[in-house]
Amino acid sequence: MSYNIAIDGPSGAGKSVLAKKLARKLGFKYVDTGAIYRSVGYYMYEHGIDVSDASAVEDALENVDIRLDYSCGGQQVLVNGVDYGDKIRLPEISMYASAVAAIPAVRKKLLDVQREAAKNHDTVMDGRDIGTVILPDADVKIFLSASLESRAHRRWLELLEKGVETTFEEVRADMQRRDHQDSTRAQAPCVPAADAVLLDNTNMPPDETLEAALEIVRAKLGELVK
Ligand code: DC
Repeated sequence: MSYNIAIDGPSGAGKSVLAKKLARKLGFKYVDTGAIYRSVGYYMYEHGIDVSDASAVEDALENVDIRLDYSCGGQQVLVNGVDYGDKIRLPEISMYASAVAAIPAVRKKLLDVQREAAKNHDTVMDGRDIGTVILPDADVKIFLSASLESRAHRRWLELLEKGVETTFEEVRADMQRRDHQDSTRAQAPCVPAADAVLLDNTNMPPDETLEAALEIVRAKLGELVK
């Protein structure tokens, strides 16, 4: 018997920071599904595929093999055996990831890859459709969100820290476009599952967000969490 915790929400809400901390605290495996879409987006970028052309992406996808590896502690996404590393985090790749994520054939191909990662393991998985599509029977579902201003501000600081030159206005505009694309697409839009607990962390520092999430987990899983 294994437990699954699903954390969904828009870009920049702090899902990955929260999911990683929760996983460490509980001794669960952390699965970052955004990294999988980003890796597919990077492959399309690298091969000059027009991601606004769904059939071109579908054709290219036939030559793509996706595997997840957890043998080094963290998660590695291997695209035809290659781990793209931090390159998938570049701002231009975010839009590629969001565009490929709207294509049904991409989501179909990644469905089993994600389910397999949660099978037989206690898992914290973050994404957009984990509670609604990937793990509809997850034991705990959290939908984490924050205001656009606050999410864009956090993402901008993160990018500055990594030495990526960009302005706050650019980051906010990109995020708004991605929010729109991710929440209005026909397949698996980013919306809370009916049984998800909503957590808005606009005015919460990360440690308070973790505490609030732990409360939600404790309420569902009880003694498992001290
Ligand atoms: O969480 P992230 O910013 O790394 O995700 C990158 C893109 O991938 C995001 O714009 C939406 C998409 N995505 C998705 O559609 N479904 C998921 N489960 C995870 C990410």
